[in-house]
Amino acid sequence: MSENEKDMWDASRDPRWTSLILDSIGDGVFTVDREGKITSFNRAAEEITGFSREEAIGQYCHEIFRANICFEDCPLRRTAQTKERIVNLEVTILSKDNREIPISISTAQIVDEQGQVIGAVETFRDLSLIRQLQEEVSGRYRFEDIVSRSKAFSRIFQVLPDIAQSDSTVLLCGESGTGKELFASAIHNLSKRCKGPFVKVNCGALPETLLESELFGYKRGAFTGAVVDKPGRFKIAEGGTLFLDEVGDLSLGTQVKLLRVLERKEYEPLGGIKTERADVRIVAATNLDLEELVARKRFREDLYYRLNVVRIDIPPLRERPEDIPLLIEHFLHRLNRKMGKQVRRLSDKALQILLDYTYPGNVRELQNILEHAMILCKGVEIQPRHLPAYLTRRTPLTSPPRSQTLAGAEILREKEKEAILSVLQRSSFRLSEAAKDLGIHRSTLWRKMKRLGIEKPRSVAKSQ
Ligand SMILES: Nc1ncnc2c1ncn2[C@@H]1O[C@H](COP(=O)(O)OP(=O)(O)OP(=O)(O)O)[C@@H](O)[C@H]1O
Ligand SMILES: [Mg+2]
Repeated sequence: MSENEKDMWDASRDPRWTSLILDSIGDGVFTVDREGKITSFNRAAEEITGFSREEAIGQYCHEIFRANICFEDCPLRRTAQTKERIVNLEVTILSKDNREIPISISTAQIVDEQGQVIGAVETFRDLSLIRQLQEEVSGRYRFEDIVSRSKAFSRIFQVLPDIAQSDSTVLLCGESGTGKELFASAIHNLSKRCKGPFVKVNCGALPETLLESELFGYKRGAFTGAVVDKPGRFKIAEGGTLFLDEVGDLSLGTQVKLLRVLERKEYEPLGGIKTERADVRIVAATNLDLEELVARKRFREDLYYRLNVVRIDIPPLRERPEDIPLLIEHFLHRLNRKMGKQVRRLSDKALQILLDYTYPGNVRELQNILEHAMILCKGVEIQPRHLPAYLTRRTPLTSPPRSQTLAGAEILREKEKEAILSVLQRSSFRLSEAAKDLGIHRSTLWRKMKRLGIEKPRSVAKSQ
């Protein structure tokens, strides 16, 4: 090598040059040492993740990326340990502001001059735009596990991240099986509290005193049998989200206590002298008409306003039939995986039956119907005979007068009545059995029957 060549500037060995190159490419690039701590982080990585280089360097990569696979099967660790290179693996990370970002990643080992592994490098590409375009093309919206292509849902999806981030109380209203719990957990997952617990309490399932000790906990000696302190759900949910399901079923006494927690952000466990601070975000849900309960003095107006800070109304499935095919596809895919089956589609007739039905039990009922069909279906295509009999059997009682002049809401009401009647008939008006088929609670079915004016036929009532 000539003197001249020796003196020549070797760009590949100049760290300034390397970082200039790294910063000028559009893909995110970062490196980790053998422990998985970040040692470099380029400009695109900063832009995609929202974390600055200073924040990222020195952190474990899972603390910055928080991807779905970070904790299960970290690709970088795999590469560092097995030399296996990963090419274009699609994962979802969380950005600094907790947005889900789909990315495609590739990894490689970094080996020093002696052949020792000193770390790994990962390059990643932001797929958000591609995904958004794909979804626009297919006319589908998706949020976490919630699938829909309806206009109503797309409006909800647009505001959901902001609602989730806001920490305000959210009230989810919708019929049984419309996805209230799914929304509650999506709100938690998209919120700043996502790393904290998500705790659910069913306010309708317990008698008043039990519910109160469940919510607020008790101290040792609070009553006979209270031999140790028991933390309430408010305590367990600290730093996270408390999901108050069936909030319309709360007794008036418990409503007062809940109101106090919401107003003061404090509560006292049963038998306790110390006031506890409640650092929880409340998401409440109901399938009842809270305004009506307020009017009937069954629900406190002040609590209603406290809960109704941000309200999301989830429309029933019969008002968004465009979601039925999408949900069928979603559930077929899921159930195939769960049941180890290969069911690909529904025959035209079977699909028509599902499109014509009104789903009093909403999405849960559709899911139950498909599960039923998948158990019976041995091939790749679901036929009408695989569907629950109540969908295919029509009886005289199930044909209400249908006039061409009925308004939209009335048609829906009649269709719902028809569907419920048909299920009730099949179960000889045994409410528990019918409610199970519909995927709704017995009391919900009873309320629907009252609203729709469905009565047990005398002959049935007598024979039971
Ligand atoms: N849009 C949706 N996309 C995918 N799955 C859905 C959707 N809506 C509901 N589901 C599924 O339907 C079932 C019922 O949903 P969920 O339990 O959230 O309803 P809910 O409104 O809380 O019902 P309930 O009032 O009976 O408690 C769940 O298995 C849920 O995963
Ligand atoms: Mg629920």
